[in-house]
Amino acid sequence: MTGAATDLPRVELLVTTDCPHAAATEALLRSILGESDRTASVERIYISDLDHAAGMGFRGSPTVLIDGRDVAALDGETGISLGCRLYPRADGGAGGVPPEGVIREALDAWQARRDADDARPGAREAVRELPGRALRAGFVWASQRESLERLSQRLPMTRGLVRRFVAGQDLPTTLLALERLRSAGLATTVDVLGESVDTEAAATAAADRYLEVLDALAERGLDGNVSVKLTQMGLDIDTGFCQRNVGRIVQRAEARGAFVRIDMEDHSRTDATLHIVRELYAEHGNVGAVIQSYLRRSADDVEALIAAGIRVRLCKGAYNEPASVAFASKAESDESYVRLMERLLAAGVYPGLATHDERIIGQARDFVAREGIADEQFEFQMLYGVRRDLQEALAAAGHTMRVYVPFGAEWYPYFMRRLAERPANVLFVLRTLVRDRG
Ligand code: FDA
Repeated sequence: MTGAATDLPRVELLVTTDCPHAAATEALLRSILGESDRTASVERIYISDLDHAAGMGFRGSPTVLIDGRDVAALDGETGISLGCRLYPRADGGAGGVPPEGVIREALDAWQARRDADDARPGAREAVRELPGRALRAGFVWASQRESLERLSQRLPMTRGLVRRFVAGQDLPTTLLALERLRSAGLATTVDVLGESVDTEAAATAAADRYLEVLDALAERGLDGNVSVKLTQMGLDIDTGFCQRNVGRIVQRAEARGAFVRIDMEDHSRTDATLHIVRELYAEHGNVGAVIQSYLRRSADDVEALIAAGIRVRLCKGAYNEPASVAFASKAESDESYVRLMERLLAAGVYPGLATHDERIIGQARDFVAREGIADEQFEFQMLYGVRRDLQEALAAAGHTMRVYVPFGAEWYPYFMRRLAERPANVLFVLRTLVRDRG
C-alpha cells in the first residue's frame, strides 16, 4: 500500500489490562502496517467493564478493529467475553493472536473499500473536505443545541461511543477508571461533566458534587486534582455568586492538599474567568488557569500569569471563535502554542502542556533537554480516551503525564467537542452508523 499517512485506516487494539496476548498482537499489527511506507498507527485501548466493551465492539481480549470493523468475527460467537479470545490457527489449534493472514485480508478489504470510494466521482474529495472548518464548526454548534442532546441520549450507538471519551456516568465507575490509570503510572484530573447552568440551585448542586469527588479521591488516596468549568458554577448568573461557589471547591481542595484547575471556555468568558482565578489564587494558592493558544490575546495573558506566579495549562482551544479574537488558521495557533509553551517552560510555574500533537510534544522535549529544564518542572496532559499509546509512552519515558478524566450524565457538549477535533472521529461515527444499520 502506498500513500500519505493520513490515508491509513484507524487500527485499534482492544484488550483487558491483564491480556497475555496484547504485546504479541500489537507487534504483529505494527509489523504488518510497517511493511508499507506509512507510519504505523495502532491505538491500544484498555477495556474497563462490560458496558465499555459493548460500546467499543469488544468481543474478548485481544480484539483488533480496522476502521471500526472486527478483523475476525469468529464463528459461533455470541455476546461479549472479558476473558481470552482464541483464534483458530492453520495447524488446527487455537492461539491468542489473530492470524497474520486474517489481518492482511482485513487490510486488503479496507483498501478495496477505499478504492471503490475513489472510483465514485467526487466521493473522496467530499470525504477530504469533511474535516474542514465547517464540519468542526457544525459539531461545536451541535454541542450547544439542547434538542440534539435529547435525541442523542436516546441513541444506544451514541452512548457506546461516548464511553471512549467519558470515564463513567457515576462516581464509583469513575473511581475504578482512576485506579486503573494510576496503576498505569498516569496522573489524573477529574472533571464532573456539566456546563452553562442557569439557576443558582443547579450551580450549587454542581459544586457539591465536586466536594463529594474531592472527599472520595482523598479517601482512596487517589490524585486530588480536579478541573472545573465556571459556567457550571454559575458564571452566567452572577460573577460574585460563581466565585463564592467555586471558592467552596478550592477551599475543600486546599484542606485535602488538592489542586483545582479552572477550565477556559469561549472568549466571552476569558476576562471573568481569569479575574476569578486571580482572586482565588490570592486567597488559597491551589488554583490554576488555562490559556488557549488560538486566542490573539494569549501572549499578554501568559505574561500576566507568569508575573502573578499562577500555574498555566496550555491548550490550543476547543471553541468556535471569530477571526477578530482568534487565529484563523491551524498553523497560526500551532505556532502560537509553541511560542507560549517555550515561554512558560522557561519562566512559568510548573506549566501543564495539554496537547496530543506529537510534533509539538517532540518540540517540548527538545526544548527542555536543550535548556536543562527538569522533568519535575512541567507536565504533559491529555484527554481520557485520546492517544493512550502516547500517554503511556511519555509516562514510561519519565514525564508526568496527566489524563483529563470527565465523568457524569451530562456528557453531550464535551463529547461533541471531541468529535469536532478529529475528522477520523466523525468518519468513525458515520461508519459505525452505516455498519450498525447494515
Ligand atoms: P490537534 O487538534 O492539532 O490534534 C493533534 C493530534 O491529536 C490529532 O492529529 C489526533 O491524532 C489527536 N487528537 C486530538 N484530539 C483528538 C480527539 N478528540 N480524538 C482523537 N484524536 C485526537 N480546550 C479549551 O478550550 N479549554 C480547556 O480548558 C481545555 N482543557 C483541556 C485539557 C486537556 C488536558 C486537554 C488535553 C485538552 C484541553 N482542551 C481544552 C482541548 C484543546 O483545546 C484541544 O481542543 C484538544 O486538545 C485538541 O488539540 P491538540 O492540542 O491535541 O491538537
